[in-house]
Amino acid sequence: MAAPLISGTQVSQEIRADLRKEVEELKAQDFVPGLAVVLVGEDPASQVYVRNKEKACHDLGFYSEVHRLPADTQQEELLALVDRLNRQENIHGILVQLPLPGHIEEKAVIDAIAVHKDVDGFHPVNVGNLVIGDDSLLPCTPAGVIELIKRTGLEMAGKHAVVIGRSNIVGKPVSLLLQRENATVTMCHSRTSNMAELCRQADILVVAIGRANFVDASYVKPGAVVIDVGMNRLDNGKLAGDVDFASVQEISGPITPVPGGVGPMTITMLMKNTLIAAKRSRG
Ligand code: GUN
Repeated sequence: MAAPLISGTQVSQEIRADLRKEVEELKAQDFVPGLAVVLVGEDPASQVYVRNKEKACHDLGFYSEVHRLPADTQQEELLALVDRLNRQENIHGILVQLPLPGHIEEKAVIDAIAVHKDVDGFHPVNVGNLVIGDDSLLPCTPAGVIELIKRTGLEMAGKHAVVIGRSNIVGKPVSLLLQRENATVTMCHSRTSNMAELCRQADILVVAIGRANFVDASYVKPGAVVIDVGMNRLDNGKLAGDVDFASVQEISGPITPVPGGVGPMTITMLMKNTLIAAKRSRG
């Protein structure tokens, strides 16, 4: 029997319904959470992501500002905009869409975002707080992954979780969040030699390596929870995950589809972070 799906679309809708209600309550007190999104250049995928963020703000009742800047914007101009948004009282969250054009140093821009408005969780102070387990704004995709695992009902404490991929925005923070849940975590990456063997020991397998259909059934222990963070555009224009869904679903436990798995959770967690940042700003 094929494994059950973990629907990020459905979980997102449930969380968004709660967020909408909270925003309504705040609005009744004349307080509106606000998110500013900054897009530099015309990368087609980034344009879609930014539109979806704008739409989520609208749907949930957040105040939203989108700053679309030309690709030749100078770093100083972008830093000046970030500085203005840092001081703008009706803005509680700031997101600068990545990647930035090559002449702009991403790290300089991320470092310039006020720590308490960094709803991506990318600022070094928020990353450090994540490492030491302090209360911080958690990076959105990793937080969404943990939420989806929780929704399967699986108790993570004591389980063996294997993460494939060690990126700063997914693999590393996911491994830290799994440790917070008291899982035992193994990290695999492009240089790991016995990857399939390690993965077959996983009760929870999180795949974020950025290669279409990389993980097949030979990587999966029967019944394991499989979370696919991959979003790879194939030559035929279709979206594929990092997991070969058809073969893995035959033996795994609950598994996320692509699309409709982790993807919808990222923006939902961004909205949740914006609400958290907004509420904290009131003291
Ligand atoms: N580009 C792709 N994913 C993300 C994300 O989560 N945050 C930002 N700022 N840029 C991205």
